[in-house]
Amino acid sequence: MNTTPPPVGAALPHESAHLHVTGEAAYTDDLPEPAGTLHAAPGLSSVAHGRIVSLDLSAVRAAPGVRAVIVAADIPGDNNCGAAVHDDPILADGEVSFHGQPLFAVAADTRDQARHAARLAQVEIEAWPALLTVEDALAADSHVLPPVDISRGDVAAALASAPHRLAGTLHLGGQEHFYLEGQVSLAIPREDDSLHLVSSTQHPTEIQHIVAHALGWRMHQVSCECRRMGGGFGGKESQAAQWACIAAVLARRTGKPVKMRLDRDDDMRATGKRHDFRIEYEAGFDAAGRIIGLKLLLASRCGFSADLSGPINDRAVFHADNAYYLDTVAIRSLRCRTHTVSNTAFRGFGGPQGMFAIESVIDDITRHLQLDPLAVRRANFYDAPPRNTTPYGMTVEDNVIAPLVSQLALDAGYAPRRAAIAAFNAASPVIKRGIALTPVKFGISFTATFFNQAGALVHVYKDGTVQVSHGGTEMGQGLHTKIRQIVAGEFGLPVADVRLSATDTRQVPNTSATAASSGTDLNGKAAQAACRTICQRLAAFVAGRLGSDAGQVGFADGQVRAPGFNRPFAQVVADAYRARVQLWDAGFYATPKIHFDPTTLRGRPFYYFAYGAAVSEVAIDTLTGEHRVLRVDILHDAGRPINPAIDIGQIEGGFMQGLGWLTCEELVFGADGRLLTHAPSTYKIPAVSNLPPVFNVRLFDNANREDAIHRSKAVGEPPLMLALSVFFALRDAVAAALEPGARPQLDAPATPEAILRALNGGTLT
Ligand code: MTE
Ligand code: MOS
Repeated sequence: MNTTPPPVGAALPHESAHLHVTGEAAYTDDLPEPAGTLHAAPGLSSVAHGRIVSLDLSAVRAAPGVRAVIVAADIPGDNNCGAAVHDDPILADGEVSFHGQPLFAVAADTRDQARHAARLAQVEIEAWPALLTVEDALAADSHVLPPVDISRGDVAAALASAPHRLAGTLHLGGQEHFYLEGQVSLAIPREDDSLHLVSSTQHPTEIQHIVAHALGWRMHQVSCECRRMGGGFGGKESQAAQWACIAAVLARRTGKPVKMRLDRDDDMRATGKRHDFRIEYEAGFDAAGRIIGLKLLLASRCGFSADLSGPINDRAVFHADNAYYLDTVAIRSLRCRTHTVSNTAFRGFGGPQGMFAIESVIDDITRHLQLDPLAVRRANFYDAPPRNTTPYGMTVEDNVIAPLVSQLALDAGYAPRRAAIAAFNAASPVIKRGIALTPVKFGISFTATFFNQAGALVHVYKDGTVQVSHGGTEMGQGLHTKIRQIVAGEFGLPVADVRLSATDTRQVPNTSATAASSGTDLNGKAAQAACRTICQRLAAFVAGRLGSDAGQVGFADGQVRAPGFNRPFAQVVADAYRARVQLWDAGFYATPKIHFDPTTLRGRPFYYFAYGAAVSEVAIDTLTGEHRVLRVDILHDAGRPINPAIDIGQIEGGFMQGLGWLTCEELVFGADGRLLTHAPSTYKIPAVSNLPPVFNVRLFDNANREDAIHRSKAVGEPPLMLALSVFFALRDAVAAALEPGARPQLDAPATPEAILRALNGGTLT
C-alpha cells in the first residue's frame, strides 16, 4: 500500500481558512447564547500574599442585574482546578497567594453589570510578606515540588581537570501567551443533573473531570466541547479549567446558562505564563571549546502552585543538552514557589529555557576562546557512539544535526556573511551587526508516558461523505486540516468529502491535552486506525460480491477498485449500507517504544526528535540599544510533511513567537506583586513590522525513521526555539562593541534597555 496516499503531503489551505478570513469561524463567544444566559466576572485580589479578614459582598449582591455571587464555600464539590497536584483553588479560601487571584465571582444579566458589580466588593486582607522572584524563593528555600537532579560522571573531577573553565549566571524572562481569543467557557445546565460546557480549551477531558469534581458530580454528568480556539499556545492546557469551573458552579446555582469570558487585563493578571529562569553554570572545556564537564542549575519561578511545573521543569532538564553531547554533567532543577500567578505550559514547555542555558554556555565559551561560535557548536554536536546518549540515558538514533546545519550554513552563506559582518563592524562605530546559527533538537512525546494515547471516531454516512471526531483540539495549528487529509487519504476521497466535527467528550473519551506537539502524531494514527477498519469491511464486502480477495480492493480517486471492478466510493458505500455493513468505527493509538521513570528521570521519554537550525543576522544601535533583525534563514525537519504549507506556517509563527519572547516581550511585576504589564499598551508582542525583511524557511528532507503517521514529525513547538539564533546574533553584535574576549552580560529579553546595559559595563571579562 502507498504510504502517503494523496491528499497526504499536499499544501492545502487550513480547513477553516475561508471562515477565518471572512469572520465566519465560530469561537466560543460567537455562538448564539441560549435564552437567559448570564455573564460572569471574577473579583481579583489586590494583595500578593495574606489572609482574607473579611469579604463583604453585600454591595455586589445588591448591584443591578446581579443573579448570583459565589465564594469558595459555595463550591459544592472540590474547590480545586489543579490538574496534577491538588493545590489550585478555584476561588481563594482564607488565604491569598498572588495579586490577581480570584476571590469570588458574580453572575449578572449582562457582562458590564457583572464587571461593575465585581468592583463593589469590600475586601480586607491582612498582608503577609510575599516572595516574588526566583531569588526571593531561593533565599527562603521555597519550592512547589522537590528539586530534581540528573548527572553522569564525576563533574567535580572533570571541571578540575579541564584546561579552561568559566562560570556564569543568566536571567531569562517569562512570556504571556497573548492568545487572540482569551479564556472563555459557556456552561449550559441540562436535564437530570447534567451540564454541557463549550470551552476554549486544549483539554476538554480535563475540563469535564475537574468541573465534575467541583460540582461534586461524576464524569458522565458533564460534557465539554471545543470546535476551535483562537490560539492556546499552552495557556489553555490546564488553565482553561478555572473559568469553566466558575461558569459551571454559577450555572448550577442559578439553573441558567453562564458564560465566563475574561477581560484581557484580567486574563493577563490571573492566568499563568511561561516560567522565567535563573540559570547558573560552571563549565570546563578544551581549547576547541569542547565541553568536558558541566554543572548547571535551572531555577524557575513556578508561582504559587504546582500546575504543570513538574513536567515543564523536567523538559527544561531534558533539553539542557539541546544538540550537544554532554559527557560529564550534573543538572539540578529547582521549582521555586513564589507569591505570583502559577506559571504554566507555553510552546516548548520548558524546552526553550533548557536550550537557552546550554546555548549561553556555548556562546560564553566561544567568546572566551575567541573562536567561531559555529565551530564550537559543531565540536559539541551529538555524534557517533559513545557521543550519542543523552544525560537521561536515551540514545539519539535519528541524529541529523550535522548534515542539516551544514546544508543551512551553505544555503545561508554563513561563513562569507560572518566575514562581511566583521568588515562592516570594523568600519561602523555606532551600528554593529551580529550573526548566529543555532540548532534545535526537540524530543517528541509527553514525558508522562500514559498521556501518549488517542482515540478517534469516524463515520461514513450512507452517501459516502465522512465525519471525523478525535481527541485533539484545533487552536489554529492545523491539526484538523492534517487529520482531514489523513482520513481522505485512507478512503481515497477528496478533502471536501471529509468534515471534522468539534472535539467533544461525548464522542471520544479520556483524551489527552492537545499539547507536546503530538496532536497529529496521536490523533492521526487513531483516525487512520478507524478508517482502516472501515476500509477492511468495505473491501470484504466488495470481495465477497466479486468472489475475489479483499486484499485486492483499493481506495483511490474517489473510486473503489478491484480487478474487473471500478465503482464510485459513494455507490459502494450505499450498497454496503443496504447489505447492513457497519460504516463507522473508532480507532485507538498508543505510542510504542517509550518508557520513562519519573523518579530517576531516566529512560526513553521521547519517541523521536525533531531537528532544525536557523541563521539570524541583526543590527544594533549602540547609542539607543535598539535592534533590527535583517535576515533569517531556517531549515527545519518536519519529517515527511502531511501538509508542508501548514508546517511552514507553524515554523514562521513559532519562530516569531520565540523572537518576541527573547527580544521584546517583558513581564514586569511591581514591588507589591502586581503585574504592571497587563495589557497590549505595556506588553509588547512582535508586530508584522518585526518580520525579518528576508525570511527564508525551508523544510529539511528527512522522513521520520520511526513509524509516526506517514513518517511525518511534530512541528508545533520545535520552531519556537529557532529564535535563539536572534538572541545569540544580538549577543554577537553586542560583543562586537566590547573588548575582544569579553562575554556580554545580556539578559533575555534583549530589550533596548538590556542591550544598553550589556554595552555599558554590564560585562564579565
Ligand atoms: N499554532 C497556533 N496557530 N496556535 C496555537 O495555539 N499552539 C502550539 C503549537 N502551534 C499553537 C500553535 C503549541 S504550544 C502546541 S503544543 C501545538 O501547537 C499543539 O498542537 P499539535 O500537537 O497539533 O501540533
Ligand atoms: Mo503546548 S506548550 O505543549 O500546549
